[in-house]
Amino acid sequence: MKVLIVGSGGREHALSWKVSKSAMVSKVFVAPGNGGTELEDQVTNIDIQANNIEALANFATKESIDLTIVGPEEPLVRGINNRFNELGLNCFGPTKEAAQLEGSKEFMKEFLKKNKIATADYSTFTNSEEALRYVKEKGCPIVIKADGLAAGKGVTIANSIEEAKDAINLALESEIFGKAGKKIVIEEFLTGEEASFIVMTDGINAIPFPTSQDHKARDEMDTGPNTGGMGAYSPAPIVDEIVHDKIMKEVIHPTLKGLKDEGYKYIGFLYAGMMIDKDKNIKVLEFNCRFGDPETQPIMMRLKSDLAELCYKACKGKLKNQEIELENRKSLGVVIAAKGYPHEYEKEKEITNIPIEKSDLKVFHAGTKLVNGDLISNGGRVLCVTTLGSSVQSAQKKAYNAIQDISYDDIFYRKDIGYRAIKREVE
Ligand code: AMP
Ligand code: GLY
Repeated sequence: MKVLIVGSGGREHALSWKVSKSAMVSKVFVAPGNGGTELEDQVTNIDIQANNIEALANFATKESIDLTIVGPEEPLVRGINNRFNELGLNCFGPTKEAAQLEGSKEFMKEFLKKNKIATADYSTFTNSEEALRYVKEKGCPIVIKADGLAAGKGVTIANSIEEAKDAINLALESEIFGKAGKKIVIEEFLTGEEASFIVMTDGINAIPFPTSQDHKARDEMDTGPNTGGMGAYSPAPIVDEIVHDKIMKEVIHPTLKGLKDEGYKYIGFLYAGMMIDKDKNIKVLEFNCRFGDPETQPIMMRLKSDLAELCYKACKGKLKNQEIELENRKSLGVVIAAKGYPHEYEKEKEITNIPIEKSDLKVFHAGTKLVNGDLISNGGRVLCVTTLGSSVQSAQKKAYNAIQDISYDDIFYRKDIGYRAIKREVE
């Protein structure tokens, strides 16, 4: 089987690394990939950008690709699955209609309401005065979200009316998110602990993948600006058996049923970001129509089953009674970022001494590229040092030890990835 992975981040390095281990797979291409995928023996980078759907479709046709797995949301929201289907190509990822669950917050909130799935109370606005009136009525803290895709930057948690006013004006008046922010969703601020719950689905059946938690804030103790994710670990201790069953029953199954009722075809990973309160009540914060980054990196370390086979079966609607086999050990990934991220940062800095792969250690690349054989930085999130351990604490220790070997002048990383889980382990 020939497989194409679409994307260039740490998630796509982890997906291609995992797929390349399948006995069913003879060739793995990544478009466009990164320095890490280029260094993998079994993987070939293709110089096509992830949003260039026509070029990807042409490549997949010409190379007779048996399975395409789409990493990022943008090509999905733009309809890569629809185009591949027209051409009779297997594409693991939802159609653009179904991908609206991530592509439009308003669509998602209406969908949740219609299907009686719990979420924060909200209202939608295109007019800034009406939006501000709503905020004053509801009080702070309050959450303001751009409707469309904003590369993880579209959410503001406003602690004062002034902050809310700024966020509203930036989106609706200054249009900093362009079209994505011309409409905003304002919602109730929820408290509790967040967890990521990801399933693989063929549209009918859902296989839960291991749970995880990511650290979205840049600085220690989850403070500082929001990022794409500074690290993640799996499993998430907050998701015990009771919570797991509740999520499947109250969120995942009703979502798949709702999509089917609307006539939307959803094949792929469905990612529910949730807030879980102390009474184990679950509310959906967001849906993503793809795997998480960096959650993919630790989760792929724990997955023993053949990912390529599972994705292929999903495309064929054959996930019924499929199970996945998992590593019992815990996993943890620490993101190495460039100093300054998520604001301005420098690129093209040399990186050397990356620890070699072991059974319990893998350094996945994100913003890296190879130039004349030298590895240089090429993005805000640069690497993800990922480990397995008997506990989250031991996985964390291994990861921070491995980082000491890496030589990269602009290195920045959080020193406390996994702290919540470790606190629970210690107690
Ligand atoms: P989203 O892109 O909607 O997941 O939002 C990004 C992050 O903002 C989430 O992971 C949460 O940490 C936070 N967030 C979003 N919505 C809420 C909410 N209603 N209450 C509290 N925190 C939220
Ligand atoms: N780590 C969160 C995401 O991938 O959206």
